[in-house]
Amino acid sequence: MDEVLRRQDSGDLKRRLRGRDLVGMGVGIIIGTGIFTLAGVEAKTHAGPAVTLSFVLGAVVAGLAALCYAELASSVPTAGSAYTYAFATLGEVFAWIIGWDLLLEFALGAAVVSRGWSGYLANLLGLSPEWFGEDATVNIGAVLIIAVLTVVAVLGIKESAWLTNLLVCVKVAVCVLVLAVGLFFVKGANLTPFIPPARAPEAGTTVLEQPAVQAVLGLEQSVYGIAGMITAAAVVFFAYTGFEALANLGEETLNPRKDLRVGILGALGVCALLYIGVSIVLTGMIPFTDIDTGAPLADAFDRVGQHWVGALISLGAVTGLTSVMMVELVTIGRIGFAMGRDGLLPKALGTAHPRWGTPHRMTVGGAVLIAVLAAFIPISELADMVSIGALSAMIIVAVAVPVLRRRRPDLDRPFRVPFSPVIPVVAALACLYLMLNLNVLTWIRFAVWLAIGLVIYFAYGRRHSRFAAPVSPSGTD
Ligand code: ALA
Repeated sequence: MDEVLRRQDSGDLKRRLRGRDLVGMGVGIIIGTGIFTLAGVEAKTHAGPAVTLSFVLGAVVAGLAALCYAELASSVPTAGSAYTYAFATLGEVFAWIIGWDLLLEFALGAAVVSRGWSGYLANLLGLSPEWFGEDATVNIGAVLIIAVLTVVAVLGIKESAWLTNLLVCVKVAVCVLVLAVGLFFVKGANLTPFIPPARAPEAGTTVLEQPAVQAVLGLEQSVYGIAGMITAAAVVFFAYTGFEALANLGEETLNPRKDLRVGILGALGVCALLYIGVSIVLTGMIPFTDIDTGAPLADAFDRVGQHWVGALISLGAVTGLTSVMMVELVTIGRIGFAMGRDGLLPKALGTAHPRWGTPHRMTVGGAVLIAVLAAFIPISELADMVSIGALSAMIIVAVAVPVLRRRRPDLDRPFRVPFSPVIPVVAALACLYLMLNLNVLTWIRFAVWLAIGLVIYFAYGRRHSRFAAPVSPSGTD
């Protein structure tokens, strides 16, 4: 275990980031499709105005998990984040599962977002949906944006942070504009009743679309009401995912002891406030039944005659989604780097570029995978996979906090989760509860992904692991 905790600083990556870069990168990856699209979709289909409460619930769960991430990230600042914490506390198989899980979260996230980006761009510039829309056979727009951002990600972490900060300023400004202008159009009548009464779902809704917890308990399917609000919370949790990416930048942060917790908690706090405000405004401006599920925010402003705001929102969405992909690419590079360094993935992936100091091979490899997914597969419905991947990693991180405190009480902990083990246990249960509210189809896909991961682990990772090598009977590396 000590080796796992020590090998965090191989000195290959370059320490160039400050606290404010981390907050910028955090906001950069957090604000995206979740608020620009999912808030409206979930208000319409599951929660009504209570989608605001879904965002509050999501913020509480993400906040609890963020406290756990902040403790581990500041005491074990490493490129692998949850993957490394799991290695140190629960062992190699769990570490592999979590690393595999995080790769799913960020690769699929980037693919989903790149297709959304392409669609918004086509809208803004009047480009042909044949190449840029969701129905494109080969989505050229998605491939192009991934290629450009990969070049930035390989060139340097500081360059990536600089571009992200610039894009973040634009999208935060757009969210503030939505709040400032939208508030004038909020009508009390649209917000009453705040929690619409529960009713049966549309005819033809199958059990695969039912929240897993309801399916397992054999409950009647319903939408709206408290249950609808909680279902929406599980889906819009996607909007908060991404802050964990910061925990992967511990080897590139100038003062990881302080900057990581400032970055993680600061970025999440800023985004939670914006989300709660924007969802109140959205559901207050028009009746939730009239919300457009394609471009909910822009459409709401069009309906109240403020077309200029609608155009700015599309611009904000394009820039906003660019920064989400930027940080996702950076993160995939770091997680694969840590796994390659340990031998669980090919070792060549675990080296950094001598000049640029970035994990260039993993970044490019990950980008090729994302580009292939994004080019051919209409994956919008796979957004829930991002949430299930993130939530399961958060459970492991929460469990790792008290385990590591018991095993290594001596470890320097610049930030400590208050009331451990109570808060970590509550965090783990809250994440599990949200996971159970994702639908049955998402669970099936998640199980398939994990099964593929385990096959790769037993066929490759276990035999090549650097950590396991000295005790393996064959003694090979
Ligand atoms: N949190 C990111 C988004 O909402 C993934 O797009």
